[in-house]
Amino acid sequence: MAFQKDFLWGGAIAASQADGAYDKGKKGLDTQDLRYFDANWDKEQRTVNRNINMTSERFEEALNAQENTHYPFRWAIDFYDNYKEDLALFEELGLNVFRTSISWSRIFPNGDDETPNQEGIQFYVDLFSECKKRGMKVFATILHYNIPVNLVTKYGGWKNRQTIDFYVKYARTLFKHLGNLVDYWLPFNEINCARFNPYNGCCLIKDQEEDYDSAIFQCTHHQFLANALTVEAAHEMLPGSMLGGMIARFTTYPATPKPEDVMQAVLDENYKNYFYLDVMAHGEYPSYTKRMFKDLNITIKIEDGDTEILKKGKVDFIAFSYYMSMVATTDTTHEKTSANLVTGNKNPYLKTSEWGWQIDPIGLRITLNDMYDRYRLPLFIAENGLGATDIVEDDKVHDDYRINYLREHVRQMDEAIQDGVDLIGYTMWGIIDIVSCGTIEMSKRYGVIYVDRDEEGNGTNRRIKKDSFTWYQKCINSNGADI
Ligand code: BG6
Repeated sequence: MAFQKDFLWGGAIAASQADGAYDKGKKGLDTQDLRYFDANWDKEQRTVNRNINMTSERFEEALNAQENTHYPFRWAIDFYDNYKEDLALFEELGLNVFRTSISWSRIFPNGDDETPNQEGIQFYVDLFSECKKRGMKVFATILHYNIPVNLVTKYGGWKNRQTIDFYVKYARTLFKHLGNLVDYWLPFNEINCARFNPYNGCCLIKDQEEDYDSAIFQCTHHQFLANALTVEAAHEMLPGSMLGGMIARFTTYPATPKPEDVMQAVLDENYKNYFYLDVMAHGEYPSYTKRMFKDLNITIKIEDGDTEILKKGKVDFIAFSYYMSMVATTDTTHEKTSANLVTGNKNPYLKTSEWGWQIDPIGLRITLNDMYDRYRLPLFIAENGLGATDIVEDDKVHDDYRINYLREHVRQMDEAIQDGVDLIGYTMWGIIDIVSCGTIEMSKRYGVIYVDRDEEGNGTNRRIKKDSFTWYQKCINSNGADI
């Protein structure tokens, strides 16, 4: 096995999908707390209605809602109150790194508050200290899709340049109070998903935008600036700190060797993936930006001095989520399948998950080689896993399908390291069952730990170890050898 001695084997979750306790500890309401879900919806309705393009009507309704049943992010799996028990399970599993995100609205309930909320800071001091006590490094995402609602209603979210200042103040507060506890920082989760999930990524309300597509890229420009300023601040406040740039990697193959399809794959890779990492890793907009903005009909405002800001805050490592691969073609009649937040073209050589995501372990090796070659920075797989329906029988969950998925991906990581890739860590996604980010449901489960809670928040909230728990434990204990 090629895994280095101190390879980081971990698990990942995000605050809004796990914490619950949306009104405890003086937390302010955040944008995820407003995403509506109805347990009676069928699979298709769950995808269509998932509020990735938010409407004013739905937003207002959620702001005034008198109940929480239809807002799963408000209760999730109550990690906020259960974290000690959950971390004990993670320790038993052998995790040596734990990735979670910080809720901006726990630290600054309104986003524009003068001073931070001490209770919120204390929660993270306690949580991260507990991780340390249990032998886990901390990989903290500063923003994983949930921003204080007040920043949307009062300022218009990321479209407003002022949000950059609020964000950087928030990040500096974290560095000051949590800097000694966090080992790896991730300013933005999947920054490229702003394009595919504009409500989560940019906090835009679609019917309020005249030119939605340009607004999305304006938000992204502001996030690039916020990212660079944050990296710069961390390097100054915490010398030697490690800050990562992250995308959801939609690895794309041409559907056929037809040059048109190959070209389409190049464009898809540039426009959906590399564009974002190129800016964060190289500190400047890539050469194809002008053409890309023309192709996508985008106009954005870049102010004097922005170029210098981007140059000063280059990331130290590259992180990405990898769930599937995609196929590019100019043939509009090509069969489709769904993929995280987007609809993709079907690859006839791959099987799909229950949600249509195309399972492709070799694609992970391809991705790792490709990203390392392009950026020459350490790589961190910040998310990877299988969303599936699990069945509990006699207090057991026999999830061979998940074990197979994970095993094949770990094998390809090993291959990639042998290829020469500098891969430093792997935080399996949804180490414990949480609310799905895309479709807001509990029944799309990723964990090696089952949580007894249904779509409407019913259940004991008890944790049950799945078969994959034992498998991952063995994998970690043998540093990837016994899989
Ligand atoms: C990533 C997100 O896009 O995919 C996670 O960072 C998310 O928040 C994960 O949960 C899996 O997606 P989903 O929609 O199955 O929860």
